[in-house]
Amino acid sequence: MTITNKWSLESWKDKEIRQQATYPDGNALNKAVNKLTNMPPLVTSWEIYKLKKKLAEVQMGKRFLIQGGDCAESFSDCSSPIISNRLKVLLQMSLVLIHGLKMPIVRLGRFAGQYAKPRSSDIETKDGVSLASYRGDLVNQIAFDEKSRVPNPARMLVGHSSSAMTLNFVRALIDGGFADIRHPEYWNLAWIEHSGQSTEYQDMMKKISESIEFAEILAGRRLGNLSRVDFYSSHEALHLHYEQALTREVPRQEGWFNLGTHFPWIGLRTNQLDGAHVELLRGINNPIGIKVGKETSKEHLIGLCQTLNPSNEAGKITLIHRFGANNIEENLPRMIKSLQEEGIGAVWCCDPMHGNTESTSNGYKTRRFENIKKEVELAMEIHKSENSNLGGVHLELTGENVTECLGGARELNEKDLERAYLTQVDPRLNYEQSLEMAMAIVSKYNS
Ligand code: PEP
Ligand code: CO
Repeated sequence: MTITNKWSLESWKDKEIRQQATYPDGNALNKAVNKLTNMPPLVTSWEIYKLKKKLAEVQMGKRFLIQGGDCAESFSDCSSPIISNRLKVLLQMSLVLIHGLKMPIVRLGRFAGQYAKPRSSDIETKDGVSLASYRGDLVNQIAFDEKSRVPNPARMLVGHSSSAMTLNFVRALIDGGFADIRHPEYWNLAWIEHSGQSTEYQDMMKKISESIEFAEILAGRRLGNLSRVDFYSSHEALHLHYEQALTREVPRQEGWFNLGTHFPWIGLRTNQLDGAHVELLRGINNPIGIKVGKETSKEHLIGLCQTLNPSNEAGKITLIHRFGANNIEENLPRMIKSLQEEGIGAVWCCDPMHGNTESTSNGYKTRRFENIKKEVELAMEIHKSENSNLGGVHLELTGENVTECLGGARELNEKDLERAYLTQVDPRLNYEQSLEMAMAIVSKYNS
């Protein structure tokens, strides 16, 4: 089944709208949406097209995609160290991947707008008290009291400005040479000094420096362009009032663009073919991510691709598969075959986080590093054996020294989780575990 009715900016409102907050004051909501509609956009149409072109190269196996960042950004984390540390870990991981995979990378941050969260229940109950669930800083506050949990539309404006500040800082750092490969000390994290894998990383840096030096001697000049890397933003397009307000037409371009992010994605809980989220996103020119899992049938998968990408344009759709290490072998091959049979193209990206969540005996929501790694490794094996291509990975990570996921080189255990468990929603890889994951991908790729 594909959707063929006429699209308009508000046609999503005629569909079933899942995972939305109920605002107590409709007028206040309309006022906030109107205000947001007149705010400057966060990204431009030409950046969006540039990303789509790079994703087309990922689809062809010529580039690798790394998409990473917080499960849920918070307004209070819109600060210099959090933003720059997240950038550092993504830069280090991409360097490991470029060096190990011998391919250019597309860096897609789960940031500058990742402020809305789907929830399994509308209500959260603690000690006999039931309140509206926290739906992300874009909607309400996490504190467990009645006032904090009331959805407040003014938070959308704070979300927009926090996204703008985050992107502005990232752009300024990159433009200022922060990512210059000749100066890795700008973006090394403390990890380098004390991690078990630091020697491997230092050796790699040394080799890269020597190669650059060698190439510069051969060329007889300094190589340009080494300080410039591209960073793109992405978030789950969940809050449809917010997404609609940032969906715009621009001069001298055909069609509509979501100018609130380069790459919006549709979450697993809102990917219904006849739902409001698919409806709003089918009208835009951005490349789009779609989360799919073990519950996604062949008809659903094909319907999503045909509805969101009727012309089968390369780079338009990224299928972010999240099965869990125990379910990927049963489900990924059938999905790959379904698309191959229909001649449909897409970028395949493995999210090894969301199918591997579990709870510990001391009440923490966590993920085991070994399961995350196993799912990525299985994804690589399965794509290879099905004559397909794993284009990238989607990770929840942070540049901070948190203890949220179990395992990794430091063998974090359940007790360690008590030390620095800071996430507001899902457990993230810390910077060491993130680097270790990048190295694991390289080692599997070259095995
Ligand atoms: C997420 O990416 O944080 C998320 C909620 O994922 P999914 O839609 O795959 O469950
Ligand atoms: Co998450």
